[in-house]
Amino acid sequence: MIDTKSVLAYGLEETAVILNRGFSDYFVPINFTLNSLLNMVAHDGLDLSSSRIAFKNGEPVGAGLIARRGWSSRLAGMAIVPEAQNQGIGKQFMKVLVTDAKERGDHRMELEVIAANTPGIKLYESAGFRTMRQLFSYKLESPPLFQTSNTAIEIDIREVARQVTLNGYSDLPWQLSGETIAGFTPPYQAYRLDKAFVVLTNPENETIHIRSLIVNQSARNQGQATQLLHSLFTRFPGKTWNVPAIFPEELGPLFETLGFKRGELSQWQMALDIRE
Ligand SMILES: CC(C)(COP(=O)(O)OP(=O)(O)OC[C@H]1O[C@@H](n2cnc3c(N)ncnc32)[C@H](O)[C@@H]1OP(=O)(O)O)[C@@H](O)C(=O)NCCC(=O)NCCS
Repeated sequence: MIDTKSVLAYGLEETAVILNRGFSDYFVPINFTLNSLLNMVAHDGLDLSSSRIAFKNGEPVGAGLIARRGWSSRLAGMAIVPEAQNQGIGKQFMKVLVTDAKERGDHRMELEVIAANTPGIKLYESAGFRTMRQLFSYKLESPPLFQTSNTAIEIDIREVARQVTLNGYSDLPWQLSGETIAGFTPPYQAYRLDKAFVVLTNPENETIHIRSLIVNQSARNQGQATQLLHSLFTRFPGKTWNVPAIFPEELGPLFETLGFKRGELSQWQMALDIRE
């Protein structure tokens, strides 16, 4: 049997140590710090009282980070330290986290898991989570420059957040939702061309990450997203353009038409209906 304590009571720096031990042999390098956890509080709705540390025989063996918005929660990070893995602790811990969610009246819990992470997928399936869609990453190096008749104009990031909230899929991954986008600040930048909107990480860097892309429902399938990105490829020449592995599979054809190559890393977006 495991015991648990809130991350708030256990301490943020101590929690980062447990998470880093749990993720030490992970698919991508991960390094939690006090700062990165505080960033998650500010941008992802990480709730330190609902996030927990698991203990076995008095020793910390795992951490589960929970973010919350309204009736939804997100498992924003879950790790069992290597020497305690594959002993059923993850399953026991998930039961605690899902029971917490039921008790606080959540309707839904969601998460993303790397497609190659078999233990993670098994763990979440056994806790009742179902796959919703695959999330892909894309990359494009030094795209050609395009002559566009219209030029993208810089706008407030919050305007894109509003568009995503009004026009985006209602089941977007947590990190693409309007609430997350609204929390981004300069040096991130947002651009608009006609009815297409995008949020970019600092375009002065060699690699520009696309953090949001949305076209008003009334203007879809008219090439507006393509026009917007062509205009930005020309405005910021010679850059590597990256789409993180949180973009819904539905957007694949758009990025592929623009010349992006799908990355090896993909994730499953999974959700648990807590009221079932
Ligand atoms: C994923 C993780 C949290 C699972 O916790 P755990 O305590 O090791 O898991 P459990 O022992 O409770 O087992 C859960 C399921 O995973 C399977 N599993 C665990 N380790 C496995 C392994 N190394 N290979 C294959 N399956 C494995 C178990 O058989 C079980 O499956 P079942 O429900 O079909 O019986 C843990 O392995 C971990 O911390 N990994 C590194 C960080 C990580 O991947 N976090 C998840 C990010 S989304």
